[in-house]
Amino acid sequence: MHRLTGKVALVTGGSSGIGRASAVAFAHEGAKVMLAARGIDRGERVAHEVQVAGGEAQIVRADMSSPSDIEALVERAWDLHGRLDFAFNNAASTEAKLSRTADVTEEEFDRLMAANLKSVWLCMKHEILAMLRQQPQGGAIVNTSSVNGLGGARMGAVYSATKSGILALTKSAAQEYAREGIRINALVAGAFQTPMLVSAMDSIAGAQGIARDAIEAQYCQFIPQGRIGRPEEAAEAVVWLCSDAASYMTGHSMIVDGGMTASMR
Ligand SMILES: NC(=O)c1ccc[n+]([C@@H]2O[C@H](COP(=O)([O-])OP(=O)(O)OC[C@H]3O[C@@H](n4cnc5c(N)ncnc54)[C@H](OP(=O)(O)O)[C@@H]3O)[C@@H](O)[C@H]2O)c1
Repeated sequence: MHRLTGKVALVTGGSSGIGRASAVAFAHEGAKVMLAARGIDRGERVAHEVQVAGGEAQIVRADMSSPSDIEALVERAWDLHGRLDFAFNNAASTEAKLSRTADVTEEEFDRLMAANLKSVWLCMKHEILAMLRQQPQGGAIVNTSSVNGLGGARMGAVYSATKSGILALTKSAAQEYAREGIRINALVAGAFQTPMLVSAMDSIAGAQGIARDAIEAQYCQFIPQGRIGRPEEAAEAVVWLCSDAASYMTGHSMIVDGGMTASMR
């Protein structure tokens, strides 16, 4: 089934993990995809993967910490395709250190806020302006949050704050642009098997002096489905939220976590 034929999708952090899987899923549904990341090599491999499967994809180098890169990225999508139907604002810094709140440096705070939160606001700003000026007007945006943004995480206060902030940005903007045909929702991701999660588990394993496998087993005990998610399982939710199947959904925080937070909600 090609639910998104003729549509244009922008995916930040599209070179790896959840972003890669989502880019492939958008293309599978017929959308033309523009991927963004800082490293071009992995992005080129994803673009090639999409092209081999008969889809259309380009990779653009963009650092989400750079306001000018973000503006240029959205303009590039617009210039190339003449419209922007979907945006998946998914990139986030994978270089977060584990620190208690008082040990976080001001530099680290500012770096994470810029890469993870201000970036999502800036992406939305330019994407919304593009979606408002096109005919027919409108589009769908999905922003990646995390279960850590629902309840906070020890040793990850700033990362958690950025992910909570994304939920507030999503809900505010969703109300503001609903009448202009722009739907804005959030993916609240649980644990997914990606390089970011592997690196987070390696850091925890290093700090506790135990093997990563043991950390993964501990994680899985808190997940009712008993396993880490596959990035493709997050991508399904993202594409669905962008599709007309979700035409009456906006301002929603879609939790995809194998039931991890079910007992707390
Ligand atoms: N995996 C999980 O368990 C999990 C759980 C909850 C939430 N999430 C969220 O899911 C999203 C995707 O994470 P993932 O697990 O799929 O990670 P991943 O596989 O490590 O991919 C991260 C992607 O973001 C890009 N990126 C990182 N920093 C960037 C920057 N400053 N500018 C532009 N691109 C940047 C990376 O490419 P470059 O490094 O080349 O730029 C890469 O394409 C993130 O928002 C993350 O917080 C993940």
